[in-house]
Formats: sequence, structure tokens, C-alpha cells
Amino acid sequence: MEIRYTLALVTGAGGGLGRELAVALARLGAAILVADRDLPAAEQTVELVRAARVRGWAVQADLADEADVRMLAARAADLGGADILLNNAGGWTEGPAQYPYAPDLAWSRTLDLNLRSPMLLTRLFLDALGERRGRLGVGAVVNVGSSAGLEPGGYGSPEYAVAKAGLVRLTTALGDPETAARARVMAVVPGWVGLPRAQEQWAELTEAERAALPPLIDPGEVVRSVVHLLRRGAAGEVVELAGDRAARGR
Ligand SMILES: NC(=O)c1ccc[n+]([C@@H]2O[C@H](COP(=O)([O-])OP(=O)(O)OC[C@H]3O[C@@H](n4cnc5c(N)ncnc54)[C@H](O)[C@@H]3O)[C@@H](O)[C@H]2O)c1
Repeated sequence: MEIRYTLALVTGAGGGLGRELAVALARLGAAILVADRDLPAAEQTVELVRAARVRGWAVQADLADEADVRMLAARAADLGGADILLNNAGGWTEGPAQYPYAPDLAWSRTLDLNLRSPMLLTRLFLDALGERRGRLGVGAVVNVGSSAGLEPGGYGSPEYAVAKAGLVRLTTALGDPETAARARVMAVVPGWVGLPRAQEQWAELTEAERAALPPLIDPGEVVRSVVHLLRRGAAGEVVELAGDRAARGR
């Protein structure tokens, strides 16, 4: 896929990885629809996007909320339809308690944000592409997973791990020829990414704690993987970025 002249919808792009991805795609010539629950943060990303001399729009949307997800898809359609969807928004619900100790609403929200909403937004994206097939060829979706979904432990939030595991299976399941003819649905699955907050937390760890962990993953490596998938990835492809996990035999 040629990224230039496309419209990319990036969720959770008001900060973190989503902002890095939005700005990288803007620099490659894509117009960006920036969705985030934090509107001022989304607007800041749009400033960065426009600095790359492409168009950008900010939309306030809680990606754990179905009505907001539908509104977001409608906004993309109003702009002529997205060619690229990055299902990036994710994370677990704040609070000390996670499943099975968290209130049902709290762990359900984590499932909604990390699995149900990407499923719904992907379906709405596929529907919209079907209505205008031929304009720019086959669309592309990249789901942002997490090593939480691949590793056996609870990862501090079993519901987050379950949702991220589901996101990987959603991706491989949508590698079927019928879906692939409309859009290549792919995923990137990073371990702990070296964003500023992670760098601070890493610095607070003891030497022994750091030695027991795989190194932080450079956000640029995640961006490069997503761009590579968009350009040349195959439908259903999942790219794991796990530091030296393999070398440690974990
Ligand atoms: N940071 C990591 O180390 C790491 C590792 C593996 C996977 N991931 C995944 O990468 C993605 C991005 O992670 P991050 O650490 O950059 O996120 P983050 O917590 O830094 O948040 C990035 C942006 O998402 C927005 N956001 C959060 N919840 C939202 C919601 N419900 N609706 C709309 N916007 C929302 C925030 O406002 C913020 O602007 C997530 O899917 C996460 O699970 C992150």
C-alpha cells in the first residue's frame, strides 16, 4: 500500500504510541483522524500532524463506549472514508483490583476497550470500504496488541491479557480470503515499550529487577513495524516485538 494520500484513523492518538504512529504516518503523507478521549491531547497531536503539511482532525471519543465508536466511524465516512485503521487505544481500567476482584463493570470496560471496540470499529471500517471499493484499493487495519496476550501469566490484569489475546486471534481469523479482498487486517504485538512513562518506571527499578526483564522496546521499532505492515504486510500477519524474549527462552 502507498501511504501517501490515504486517510488514517488512529485511536488513542492523543499521546503514547498512538501519537508516535499518527505523526509517522503524517510524515509519510497520510491525512490523520486523531481519536482520543482527551480532546486537548488529540488537538496537540493534530498540530504535529499538520506540521507535516497534511490534513488532520481531532475527535473526542471514548473507545470503550459503543456510541462513541459508531460516531467515530461516521466521522471517518464524512471525511471520505478511511483507508487505514490503527486500533491502538488500549490499556486496563485504573484501580488496584483487576479480575476476578474488580467490579464487573470495570473488567468489562477493559474487554470493551481492548477487544470489542476494535472488533466493532474494524467491522464498520470494512463495511465503509465495501461501499467505495476501487478508490484506493484494499484497506489496511493494524491492531496494537500486547505481549500480555501471548505470555502465560496474568500480567497484572487478566482481563487485559485475555482481550489482547483475543485481538491476536481476531487478526489471524480475519486473514481469510473474503476479508482480505477488502482489507488486510494485521497486528503488532509489543512487549514493554520505552515511552517516556516507561523510561521513568524503568529508572526506578533495581539493577536485579531490570536484569530479569527484556529490554524496553524502542517506540520507533513499533512504528517501523506498523509502517512495514501497512506497506507490505499480509492479511492476518502478526508481528511480535518482544525484546530478547526468545533468547531468554521465556
Ligand atoms: N506502553 C506500552 O508499553 C505498551 C506495551 C504493549 C502494548 N501496548 C498497547 O499499545 C497501545 C497504546 O499504549 P500506550 O501506552 O501508548 O497508551 P497510553 O496509556 O499512553 O494512552 C495513549 C492515549 O490513549 C488514550 N486513551 C486511553 N484510553 C482511551 C479510551 N478509552 N478512549 C480513547 N482514548 C483513550 C489516552 O488518552 C492517551 O492519549 C495500547 O493498546 C496498549 O495496550 C502498550
